Amino acid sequence: MKRTEKMEFVRHAASEGMVLLKNDNNTLPLSSKNTVALFGIASYQCFKLGWGSGDMLAQRIIQIDEALEAAGYKLEKTSNEIARAWVSSHKEEYQRVNRNWAEWVFRFNEIEITEEQVNNASKGAEYAIITIGRCSGEADDLKNEEGFFKLHSDESALIRNVSKSFKHTILILNTCGPLDLTSIEDCNIDSILYASMGGERFGYSVVDLISGETNPSGKLSTTWARVYEDYPTTEGITTMLVPYNEGIYVGYRYFDTFNVEPRYPFGFGLSYTTFDMKAGDFFVDGSIINFVVNVTNTGNVAGKEVVQCYISCPDGKMEKAYQDLCAYAKTKLLQPQQSEEIVISFDMTEIASYDEENARFVLEAGNYIVRYGNSSRNTHVAFVIKVEGEIVCVKTVNRLVPNNDALKLISKKGIAPYTYAGEAQEIADAEAFVLDPNAIELVVCDKYEDTPDELLIPKDDKLYTLEDVWNGDATVEDVVAQFSNEELAMLLNGVIYDSSNANANVGSMAIKVRGAAGELWTSEKYKIPTNAVADGPGGIRLSIFGTPEESDTDVCKEMVAYPSGTCLANTWSFDIALKFGMCVYDDMCISDIEGWLAPGINIHRNPLNGRNFEYMSEDPLLAGKTGAYITLGVQYDEETEPLGRYTTIKHFACNNIEYERGVSDSVVSERALREIYLKAFKIAIMESGALAVMTAYNKINGEFSSTSFDLLNGILRGEWGFDGIVMTDWNPCSDAKKHSYAGNDLIMPGCHKTDIIQGLEDGTVNKASAQKCACRILNLILKSNYVLKNR
Ligand code: BGC
Repeated sequence: MKRTEKMEFVRHAASEGMVLLKNDNNTLPLSSKNTVALFGIASYQCFKLGWGSGDMLAQRIIQIDEALEAAGYKLEKTSNEIARAWVSSHKEEYQRVNRNWAEWVFRFNEIEITEEQVNNASKGAEYAIITIGRCSGEADDLKNEEGFFKLHSDESALIRNVSKSFKHTILILNTCGPLDLTSIEDCNIDSILYASMGGERFGYSVVDLISGETNPSGKLSTTWARVYEDYPTTEGITTMLVPYNEGIYVGYRYFDTFNVEPRYPFGFGLSYTTFDMKAGDFFVDGSIINFVVNVTNTGNVAGKEVVQCYISCPDGKMEKAYQDLCAYAKTKLLQPQQSEEIVISFDMTEIASYDEENARFVLEAGNYIVRYGNSSRNTHVAFVIKVEGEIVCVKTVNRLVPNNDALKLISKKGIAPYTYAGEAQEIADAEAFVLDPNAIELVVCDKYEDTPDELLIPKDDKLYTLEDVWNGDATVEDVVAQFSNEELAMLLNGVIYDSSNANANVGSMAIKVRGAAGELWTSEKYKIPTNAVADGPGGIRLSIFGTPEESDTDVCKEMVAYPSGTCLANTWSFDIALKFGMCVYDDMCISDIEGWLAPGINIHRNPLNGRNFEYMSEDPLLAGKTGAYITLGVQYDEETEPLGRYTTIKHFACNNIEYERGVSDSVVSERALREIYLKAFKIAIMESGALAVMTAYNKINGEFSSTSFDLLNGILRGEWGFDGIVMTDWNPCSDAKKHSYAGNDLIMPGCHKTDIIQGLEDGTVNKASAQKCACRILNLILKSNYVLKNR
């Protein structure tokens, strides 16, 4: 793939993921004949991504000012000169912080421009554009304070001044996620574009939308509340015990069920054209419901729309949310008057609720209302599915039960949900059909993955290598059986080459590829080739701490900074997620990286989480599907043949806040885990055949995710049938000796070799489990390095 193709992709993908939140009087698009006054540091020096392992170095980031000029806009002189003078005096700093944004976060409105100067500027231009930047990153969270989740007083003052003076004001939000916009609610702002973090072509993507070159089609993957206090997830996020008291009511599931008006609802996003959506036929195939929606572009310019399908499940023994997203699809680019018939499908077994009392997924009796529309707050009823008696879909055992004293689940009892005019009539008029209970096949998964109690013993005296396995002359078990305790410990640990370097924490661990995050054990004796892994999810992050001269190798320079996970999810496009994976695959080929430590698909539970920009959505279907398509793009070619490179879906699970992430405990009901938090992973992993998973640092219900037998061997492997490898996050706080028994194969980046050897010797590490982990790692190397070599 040519680099220019990837750059075009970054530009296009980011513009599809930017969401137009407001556009009064069709202020946008804006003809390039206009002169524009440009304000705000981020108009000149944007955040392409947040900081930490989700960041990327970029050789050249396209800024909004230059992109506007490139598109033919004139920049108003006074405002531009003042800003550019500030920018040029901070150029080096900006280049440096491109390596660590954390230093840059507290820059709000340092470009000093007086009210009078703003007023003068408005004489030379009718249109003002202000960009507000907000960054966040690993190991830190936003706060519900000014300059974090709230606008800084300097930012509000700038917006106030500008919107008072100019005829038209356009606000661009170059932010890691939602912000509280209360302080500027009364300002006269015509248009708001949530540009999120669009990677290294950021400026071009923004200007493509401003100019109308691209028609906005992004939709919010996460609800924007009016104020922080409106979210149901605020309790305990800066404590060691985080109670998920909202249970299943995460994001729109809460706002709709408890009838709290969001600032911008889930799924919302404007376009420069209008669409008409009509429900067509539906047909049922066993448990699969297929449903036709006809979409017509009824406006004057070409555009794309997202068909969103929600289902409202009936209350029974369990409370249900007002609605859950059950399917979605994006149209092609529709010309004015052009229509497209979209067929969307969902499986009723995926809709089932988790009944903790009986440890099963069940469709309770009642009416299931299927809705379609273009946001969670703009839908109509399509049809009704009647379930006449309860249908049990899956029988299992409870594996992740919280300490109930720490959890006070909220209930919707006595609260009227959101409704819209005519809803009751639509439900009464809707066509209904009865779901055949025999269409659903009961799945029973009530056993743990078996752990071996029999040790692997060497077959004979011959030396078996991985090459012999590849050639069909031995099995991975034959190879592993010969390992000494030390060799076993080497394979179960990553390899650190520079443990003396305190900075070598994120990245910089590998020797095969400079700047990669780590490497697996290499052995000439057993013909185990080097398998190198690099972060994500912003691209293939090759980062060497130090000066640009030291760190920017030619390969580093070739790597691309892609849009953030949130921006990609805001596209609601399977095609874009797939193409993103294909681009990353190409970067992996260039840099010789086998494993990519991404995508990150944790749920956007709380808007303050510093890593939300890396993650996709508050909804498990949207997060899971986006992760699945990215993985398909990395791991398989067009004929679905394995390519030998792999993704590592992370952070499994419930890394929903960074505060004390190494040791904090997420206390979650098993129902919410299974219906929301784990579901995203289930979709991403099972629908893509992902080869690797990274556990989270935090605990879930008292046990570290990385040493949770129930989570890893019980659910991931036992129930979902995952047969790839599980690795820890870097330097976990969990007990190294417990990993292999729990089903966590690999400890990264590799500081625990001695503990494992000791454990194997004194019996505190179960050798048979350790051997099983080793077999899985070798299988990955076969599917990766050996496939690559032999393709
Ligand atoms: C992050 C991971 C990352 C790893 C390697 C950790 O600090 O949490 O997401 O993959 O570092 O850089």
